[in-house]
This record gives sequence, C-alpha cells and structure tokens, in this order.
Amino acid sequence: MSVKKVSKIAVLTSGGDAPGMNAAIRAVVRTGLYHGLEVYGVVRGYNGMIEDDIFQMDSKSVANIIQRGGTILKTARSKEFFEPEGRQKAYENLKKRGIDGIVVIGGDGSFKGAQKFSNEFDIPCIGLPGTIDKDIAGSDFTIGFDTAVNTAVEAIDKIRDTADAHDRLFVVEVMGRDAGYIALHSGIATGAENILIPESKTDMNLLVKGLTEKEKRKKLVNLIVVAEGDEFGGGTEVANLLKEKLPNADIRVCILGHIQRGGAPSCLDRLIASRMGYHAVECLLNGTHNVMVGIEDNKMKYTPLNNAVKAKQKISDEWLKIVKILAS
Ligand code: F6P
Repeated sequence: MSVKKVSKIAVLTSGGDAPGMNAAIRAVVRTGLYHGLEVYGVVRGYNGMIEDDIFQMDSKSVANIIQRGGTILKTARSKEFFEPEGRQKAYENLKKRGIDGIVVIGGDGSFKGAQKFSNEFDIPCIGLPGTIDKDIAGSDFTIGFDTAVNTAVEAIDKIRDTADAHDRLFVVEVMGRDAGYIALHSGIATGAENILIPESKTDMNLLVKGLTEKEKRKKLVNLIVVAEGDEFGGGTEVANLLKEKLPNADIRVCILGHIQRGGAPSCLDRLIASRMGYHAVECLLNGTHNVMVGIEDNKMKYTPLNNAVKAKQKISDEWLKIVKILAS
C-alpha cells in the first residue's frame, strides 16, 4: 500500500496546558520544516480550527520557547468540536489550505476529538500526550507531568517546614483530575505520612488509628497528600473528616492548584516533548497514522488513538506497597 503524501501539517494544543507543550510545538515545526513541509499553527485548540484561526509558522516562530511554560498556541476545551457540524467546519478550514496532517498535543479528551475527526475525514491525526495528569496509557510519561510533580514537591517541602515548626497536620491537595499520579509521586518524594489516591481505597478508620498512635509517640508532624479526585473528595473534605475524628489535632489544608500547571518545563519534559514532536512528524510522513506517540521503556511506542482514548495507566501494586511501607 502506498503512503499518502503529506505536505502541509498543522499543530495545536488542546485541553489543560502543560509545561513542555512549547517544546513539543517547536519540535513539530522544526522537524516539519526540515522535511520541506509547510507548517501551520492553530490557535486555541480545536476552536481555532473551527474559527479558522490558523497561521503559517516558520523556524523563528518557535525560537526562544523551549524553556517557557504554557503554550504559545493557546489552548481550550472545545465543546463545538464534539458536534459533527463543528468538525465539518474545522475540516473545511483545513482543506481550503491544503492541510493534510495534524498533530494534537493534549490529554485524553483531546484525543477523543482527534479520534472522531480521523475516523470521519481523510486527514491523519497524531496525538502527543500533553497533560500534567499522566492518565494516558501507552506512555511512561506525559508532557508536563515531571514539571508538575517537581513543583508539587518543592511546595510540599516548604509546607513541611512550617508544619514541623507548629507540630501541625497538613492535608495537601494536588491536581490529577481522576488520576492519582501527581499525588503518588510527590507524596513518596516528600516522605508524606499518607497518600490518598483514587486508584486505591483508603480505610479512614485505619488512617485515624495510625495518626492517633503517632500522636502518642509524640510524632506530631504529619503530611497527608490527597489527589483531588480521591474517593473522599479533595483536601478540604479529608481535612474536615479528620477534624471530626481528631478534635485535638491542629489541622490545616493547602490546595496547590494551578501553580502545578505553570512554570518552566523540567529537563525531562523538554526532552520527551522534543522527541515526541520529532516522531509525530516522522509518523505523518511514513504513514503511521492516527496514533498517539508515547515513550515506554525509553523506546518510542505508537498506540492507535482509539486505544489511547480507552485505556488508562494503571498504578502497579509494587508502588502501592512501597507507599504503605515507607509511610508507616
Ligand atoms: O487535566 C489537567 C488539570 O490540571 C487537572 O489536573 C485538573 O483537574 C484540571 O485540569 C483543572 O482544569 P481547569 O484549569 O479547567 O480548572
């Protein structure tokens, strides 16, 4: 079977921004130009495709961005793209420019859109996993996760200083939507006494018993890292539960929030974004179409968009065991 020739490609960022998205855009643009392609940037995700907010990019358009957080292309969660009329408009805007390949940098919501689009129209889509949540199967890392975890670690270390000074129990809520990866990694790395994540059930009575025993041992500083999507709710809900059960404890809550999404990308995020961006263009050129480009065991892995949308990453039992043993 002959490979359909691609000559004009577009790149967009969609969903929540993630540090490293700029590095990925840069890699797509520069690899595309290297191969003699015309490269277009789409502004504000799928909305820009629908509203025809599309511009041609050159090497200079991506100069001096590898170190910057956010996304120079802006991003959005487009409702209209989930309607057939929205996708039709988007298709027409691409078609009139002759754009014949797209690279979508985003999370699983963005891939759902790309999957629908690539099933309906003759424009191949490549997905790059760009989300701080790391909730996509087919890649050990997602662009932005490492930076977000490092930001959370830095913040939690600071919270431990003040918790220690006052002998307080701190409940720290981190992001992740319905995934617990940011909580798991940042909790282990900061020596949190408990880590609450949606992927594993927490026995609240056991947790309270543990804290009471620690109180008896005069271990009064406790950090509990809670994923925002935990079964008990977020940090506030967990702190309220603990306040009821431990009326003598001095409890504070800290919700880290959107600081986890900003800032200069870590070295790892810049590297994986550059590698994935490069391979996205190679995929468009060599006919590996409608896949998500991931990295597993340090090797490139291509997951059909349909599967990338359905599957979630699983937290291994080994990790959960480590959490239990080290946090006791
Ligand atoms: O998916 C990234 C993420 O930051 C989640 O961790 C979080 O739940 C959500 O986006 C927040 O979205 P918004 O910026 O729209 O409040």
